Amino acid sequence: TTPALGIQDITFATAHHRLDLDLLAQHLGIDPAKFSVGIGQEAMSLPAEDEDVVTMGAAAAARILADNDVEGLRTLIFATESGIDQSKAAGVHVAALLGLPAQIRVLETKQACYSGAGALQLALGVVARHPEEKVLVIASDVARYDLDSPGEPTQGAAAVAFLVQADPALLEVEPASGVHTADVPDFWRPNHRVTALVEGKFSISAYMDALEGAWEDYRAHGGAAFEEIDAFCYHQPFTMMAVKAHQRLRRHVGEPLPKAEVVEELAPTVGYNRVVGNSYTASVFLALLALLDGDADLTGRRIGIFSYGSGAVSEFFSVRVLPGYRAHLHRAEHAAQLAAREPVDVTRYRELHPGTAVSAAEQQANPRVTAGPYRFVGIEGGVRRY
Ligand code: CAA
Repeated sequence: TTPALGIQDITFATAHHRLDLDLLAQHLGIDPAKFSVGIGQEAMSLPAEDEDVVTMGAAAAARILADNDVEGLRTLIFATESGIDQSKAAGVHVAALLGLPAQIRVLETKQACYSGAGALQLALGVVARHPEEKVLVIASDVARYDLDSPGEPTQGAAAVAFLVQADPALLEVEPASGVHTADVPDFWRPNHRVTALVEGKFSISAYMDALEGAWEDYRAHGGAAFEEIDAFCYHQPFTMMAVKAHQRLRRHVGEPLPKAEVVEELAPTVGYNRVVGNSYTASVFLALLALLDGDADLTGRRIGIFSYGSGAVSEFFSVRVLPGYRAHLHRAEHAAQLAAREPVDVTRYRELHPGTAVSAAEQQANPRVTAGPYRFVGIEGGVRRY
């Protein structure tokens, strides 16, 4: 019989700074409730000058390496849509920072916010073929929109890292999964830009159409019925998006609920995303982590997970929470790093914002700011140094 495949351990890291959205609302002269209630966001994480997707990803992954037996780790997949180089995978920097042996394959995956969930599926394929091997997946992003644009309050930054293996301790990933791809121009980032372009309202409807498509494919491939799923975790570009999506799915399966009740149903999954902001590839895993870190005992429960990456590729799949999972959580570290973020005011936030265009810097010396375990020193002769 095939062993269970899944996630042995998972954790997140975020950036050094925090901007409270009430300050942004005040600056923009709008009602703060538009952010706190309308889109469901309280704050966003912002990287310091000496942080990026590599430093956040390495910080999360270091915790996984410290707490697990990584004998058999031969693959590292780094998922991101805010990559730092068009050629070299960010995971190669991470492998060096973590001191991983040279006997490892490293690659980067990209398809907007979907590529973290996509990397999980690829990792499961590796482990299915070689059950003695393990795969480290890192999903790390800095979500940036232009200043004074509608997307501005939905920026954020975080990385998740998780270890995929046979006979996992935390979560079994069930074999059934549903996928859906549609070529839609809802959100994208051309090569010359640091910030994303987005058709906001269209992106919301594209997300919900994709949800229905992926759900139907999940069901057609042997996925559990709606009532057999105990909790739902959605990609959260802003937390109210999850509410809109779950309302749509409930209507789709003939189990509609009023908005207030859906807000309550999803409340255990939004705590981290509400204060971190959009973390693109990491976001759906932050939803999962908020649920796992919460007070409810989820032993034996099935969790439905929906990942959406604009453009658009999406997947609906499910996991089972394994007995004894609580011993593997990093609840205290998660709370501590969120609390440790240094608040900034709007003036400082705007100084830290890189603007729209990609900088062509060949030399750059970053100030020492982050208190995290790794830092981005700067660029020397075009080469990034950590
Ligand atoms: N009190 C309470 N609620 C208020 C309010 C107030 N004072 N003022 C406004 N609201 C409500 C509005 O009624 C609205 O609610 P509904 O969605 O239920 O109608 C909500 O707050 C947002 O208000 P607007 O629709 O006026 O907001 P906006 O047009 O300025 O911007 C947005 C919203 C389009 C989502 C924008 O934030 C955006 O472009 N975000 C980036 C794109 C995005 O996240 N898309 C999500 C799907 S794509 C995806 O998932 C991939 C990804 O990661 C990007």
